[in-house]
Amino acid sequence: MNTLVIGSGGREHAICGAFYRSKRVLKIYCASGNAGIAEIAECVNIEPENIEELLKFAKNNAVDLTFVGGETALSLGIVDKFGAQGLRIIGPNMSASKLEASKSFAKDFMFRHNIPTAKYRSVNSTREALEISQSGEFGGEESPVVVKADGLASGKGVVVAENRAEAVGAINQLHNLAGKSAAKKIILEECLFGREVSLLMFADGENFALMPPARDHKRIGEGDTGPNTGGMGTITDSTLLSAAQTEQIINEIIKPTLKGCADEGFPFRGILFLGLMMVDAVSGQRSGVSSKENSEPPSAAANSQLQPMLLEYNVRFGDPETQSILVRLKTDIVEICDAILAGTLDKLPISWHEGSSATIVLASKGYPEKPQTGAVIHGLEKLQNDISIFHAGTSKNENEEFVTSAGRVLGVTSTADNLQEALDKAYKAVKNISWDGMQYRRDIGK
Ligand SMILES: Nc1ncnc2c1ncn2[C@@H]1O[C@H](COP(=O)(O)OP(=O)(O)O)[C@@H](O)[C@H]1O
Ligand SMILES: [Mg+2]
Repeated sequence: MNTLVIGSGGREHAICGAFYRSKRVLKIYCASGNAGIAEIAECVNIEPENIEELLKFAKNNAVDLTFVGGETALSLGIVDKFGAQGLRIIGPNMSASKLEASKSFAKDFMFRHNIPTAKYRSVNSTREALEISQSGEFGGEESPVVVKADGLASGKGVVVAENRAEAVGAINQLHNLAGKSAAKKIILEECLFGREVSLLMFADGENFALMPPARDHKRIGEGDTGPNTGGMGTITDSTLLSAAQTEQIINEIIKPTLKGCADEGFPFRGILFLGLMMVDAVSGQRSGVSSKENSEPPSAAANSQLQPMLLEYNVRFGDPETQSILVRLKTDIVEICDAILAGTLDKLPISWHEGSSATIVLASKGYPEKPQTGAVIHGLEKLQNDISIFHAGTSKNENEEFVTSAGRVLGVTSTADNLQEALDKAYKAVKNISWDGMQYRRDIGK
């Protein structure tokens, strides 16, 4: 069969890789892809926003199955449009995509369905946001509060403000995004403290199948310092969530979410991504990791009572979580796609390689502020084949050498029996690769 993957980053390279391993795929197209993806797929120069062209391409090239990587095309209704023409496509429709495309829609949905999440207010103007931040509703002058823009903002729409003065700055800053629809509404949220975990699943409208839990690292600097990025590394490891915690997440978050979607008329089909904060249930908050005020490490007893709180939904695979997750997938991805479309995920056993995985992102000089591109990448030929390299931002120069073409350039992914081994393997492989100004975090998974 012929498949079309939509997107051009490391996530899409990993998705194309899963299709490449499938026994049932003859031909992979990727719109628009990158130089690494071009080694396993035919890249087609159509952007994700250009749904009419994608539709035409899929029809003209007998595409049997389309897989959407990112949120942009989903929020524009690509699934509705392909579906209306009888084309098979994996992803939620436009209504269900609002769980990611509008944070106020998502928060209202969580409250309607009693899903544990931080208290919030959503307002339409900067003035109202400023009034609420002054009102004491989210604490005093020195209390932290989270300020969010409503719409899709590529990870740039959230500020965790340490105090009221910072919150005021954040409200004004998000207002300056105005003109872009992302800042039309502003959300103020209670600040939660704890450990973040990402839990992704395949969903067929009713049934779901969990993927291994993952953790990402968003800041550019070691020890989670400096500006936010698209993601500098991820791990998957079973110890991120205990069996009891997973059970609790299923009962308190996943089941009410899928039922809520179905009841409200947009059954969720595709990949659902939960951004979770595991909060100390004893004190109601402050389990110790991200709070400056709490110098006490959490006790073992408190650890066992972590309450899962939902920070956000994403309606697609994460980048770079996908790279760490899909290298562990044993089941043929086409079988999973078929089950998602047929509503039979409950009947498909999905298996994963045991153990852990790690992805180290290698970024350009100057990333994230001013990434420099065009540097020749050295050392790719030295890598062993127990390492996967996912290209995020590469192209080829006139000498057919890989060169950097964006801020995030490569993801180096390994799997092993345990996390430490996976990290050691990935970091050892990283040592082979170099270009002028290459940067990466040395503390992924620590
Ligand atoms: N209520 C909250 N309390 C504490 N931290 C939060 C809260 N909401 C978001 N954050 C932090 O901000 C990050 C980004 O927020 P999120 O809602 O995931 O938006 P996005 O991923 O779309 O930027 C989270 O990963 C988390 O670190
Ligand atoms: Mg997030």
